[in-house]
Amino acid sequence: MRAFVLPHAGADLPQLADVPPPAIADDELLVRVQAVGVGIHDSYFLPANATYPYPIGIEAAGIIEGVGPLVSAHHRGDRVAFVSSMQPKGGTWAELVAVRADSLIVAIPATMGFVEAAALPVAGNTALRALQALGPAQGSLFIAGGSGAIGTLAVQLAVRQGWEVAASASDTNHDYLRSLGAELAVDYRDPSWSARVLEWMPAGVDAAIAVPPSTSTGSLGVVRDGGHLISISGDRLASERGVTVQVVPHTGDVRDELGRLMADVAAGAVRVEIEQVLSFEDAGSALAKVSTRHARGKIVLQLDPTSGH
Ligand SMILES: NC(=O)c1ccc[n+]([C@@H]2O[C@H](COP(=O)([O-])OP(=O)(O)OC[C@H]3O[C@@H](n4cnc5c(N)ncnc54)[C@H](OP(=O)(O)O)[C@@H]3O)[C@@H](O)[C@H]2O)c1
Repeated sequence: MRAFVLPHAGADLPQLADVPPPAIADDELLVRVQAVGVGIHDSYFLPANATYPYPIGIEAAGIIEGVGPLVSAHHRGDRVAFVSSMQPKGGTWAELVAVRADSLIVAIPATMGFVEAAALPVAGNTALRALQALGPAQGSLFIAGGSGAIGTLAVQLAVRQGWEVAASASDTNHDYLRSLGAELAVDYRDPSWSARVLEWMPAGVDAAIAVPPSTSTGSLGVVRDGGHLISISGDRLASERGVTVQVVPHTGDVRDELGRLMADVAAGAVRVEIEQVLSFEDAGSALAKVSTRHARGKIVLQLDPTSGH
């Protein structure tokens, strides 16, 4: 099968190669991948016991082609979107992938295509876990990096939950942020951005979600005393003024919420933004684009453009 692989441990750049398809264990599914969501983490989220050549990638959408004898919840022919990370046999940037049945797997609504479905699992899961960690909506929320893959969903989901949202991005994305439901858009490059947030909420916002790395310190500065800050990228910083500071928990179970998000997207109630759909052969430029941290929404690779739905 064709796969985008790291040829050996320590290799920097993945490359397109022909490799044997994975054999599935009794508790795994074999999925024929139709589209892959691209993230900055794809080339470095690698298990210590990876087998090489190692197909990278942690999310995709496709059709179940094989089902291990211990799996009862999924069936051949099911259309699924999923997160499958840190698996020794390899990841999702491949025509076929082995997926543990206990992975985050959601059915794709009948009216949704594979490209849209592939854009949702990681960004949706992360945005939902962050909002779950904040608890019920209680006032105002600042989201740093609101126009990226996670931010695009976090802004919309937060507004739907009842938060009043302010978000940051460069000024070319401010109309976009407002179209997602943000009341205030600020430019992280403007030295007075935090003053603008504090003009909006003079006591500080009740909560903040800091998506890109190193945005937690600035975000903490606009959170009110006793508020709550979630870092998506794992920034470590000390609490101050009674603010709860935490990294987004990995353990939150948002399987049902992700299923509902897929349904809301299929119904047109939540927007998925896909800046570019590229072919598998262009996977290198997809990785380069997400590495700039300026993609609007998601970049998706489509393996077989003729497969449609
Ligand atoms: N913990 C988890 O479970 C988990 C899961 C998935 C991802 N992640 C992490 O989340 C991050 C990826 O998130 P993503 O793909 O949504 O977005 P991203 O590419 O990291 O960020 C894009 C957003 O950040 C803005 N931005 C760019 N440079 C900035 C800067 N210097 N300061 C402030 N904002 C800036 C962009 O605005 P403009 O384009 O307008 O400039 C855009 O709104 C990665 O760090 C990844 O490791 C964590």
